[in-house]
Amino acid sequence: MVKKIHGGDIYTDRGLPSGIQLVDFSANLNPLGMPQAVKDALCRNVDAYQSYPDPQCRQLRRAIGAYYGLPDSWVVCGNGAADVIWRLVLYYKPRRAVLPAPTFSEYAEALESAGCQICYADLSAQEGFVPGESFCQAITPQTDICFFCNPNNPTGVAMPSRWIRSLMERCRETGTLLVLDECFVDFLQEEEAYTALPFLGEFPGTVILKAFTKMYAMAGIRLGYALCADETLTEGIRQTGQAWSVSTPASCCGIAALEQREFVAQTKQFVARQREALQAGLAALGMKVYAAKANYVFFQAPVPDLPARLERLGILIRSCGNYRGLDETYCRVAVRGQEENARLLEGIRQVLGGTWKGGN
Ligand SMILES: Cc1ncc(COP(=O)(O)O)c(C=O)c1O
Repeated sequence: MVKKIHGGDIYTDRGLPSGIQLVDFSANLNPLGMPQAVKDALCRNVDAYQSYPDPQCRQLRRAIGAYYGLPDSWVVCGNGAADVIWRLVLYYKPRRAVLPAPTFSEYAEALESAGCQICYADLSAQEGFVPGESFCQAITPQTDICFFCNPNNPTGVAMPSRWIRSLMERCRETGTLLVLDECFVDFLQEEEAYTALPFLGEFPGTVILKAFTKMYAMAGIRLGYALCADETLTEGIRQTGQAWSVSTPASCCGIAALEQREFVAQTKQFVARQREALQAGLAALGMKVYAAKANYVFFQAPVPDLPARLERLGILIRSCGNYRGLDETYCRVAVRGQEENARLLEGIRQVLGGTWKGGN
């Protein structure tokens, strides 16, 4: 069996000398950490954890529905967005799929496990991995399902909602279920210009995928959800898999997180400032840095083993060599706080023997 590669592996013993503290840039989590209100909700509700959770997640779905002004029947929750992807595929049983490449690997893993044939629409490095008209044309009446990640992981490319709407129209024409992964859209400063949320009611063949994981730094809690106007589909996903995929602690955290609007606004500003400095620092060190709008930066290093070299300094970054269409020179780093970002830049300078003198 092929080993799954994801960011966030802070658990493997790397034999680092004592005194070196690991800093993780490989998982794209909010650098401000989990909001205090979420931690409080986790502790406050401890007595509720002895009972089984609500398999229908009614309270949480009501809160999510109210947050977006959508009926709670359009909401289906899961043990992280990854769980929703797997349960959707298990329920829908697609035979043919279209995926852009490179993109988040979990789509292909879930589809392959269901025996689905995947047609890849390869994005070109020369065009900055921006999908063109040909992406929509790869979707045909034979395509049962298409996953599209906006902004894309790992490239960071964010397509405007006008383009996304034409993708939704193409999928409606061809009878293809479109799964739009917007797990990082809430980090965008002009989120409204990218999200397909306003179109959801018009397109019952589109599913929007979201997670609490990134924005609220709740990766270890595991909570994600999908929004879709096709209630047969949301109910189908709800009925697929084990009954209690969302724990009561996760549910309590999610409800508390949705009230943290100010935290989200602060995060966007903080991330934008740090991202600009980080991008400039990476470019000054000779990296080919791609445009970034979310809480991570995608770049190409002049050497193939930058992640391994940095790991020896206790700095984890995501090598993108296992993505279709990329090689070991491509890397992705999360945007973190000023001090940690400076440590990353200093680490790169050290391992490449470059001449970067700081200043960001
Ligand atoms: C684009 C994208 N979608 C979904 C997920 C899965 O999120 P979760 O941790 O909530 O399962 C990830 C995780 O890295 C991701 O990058």
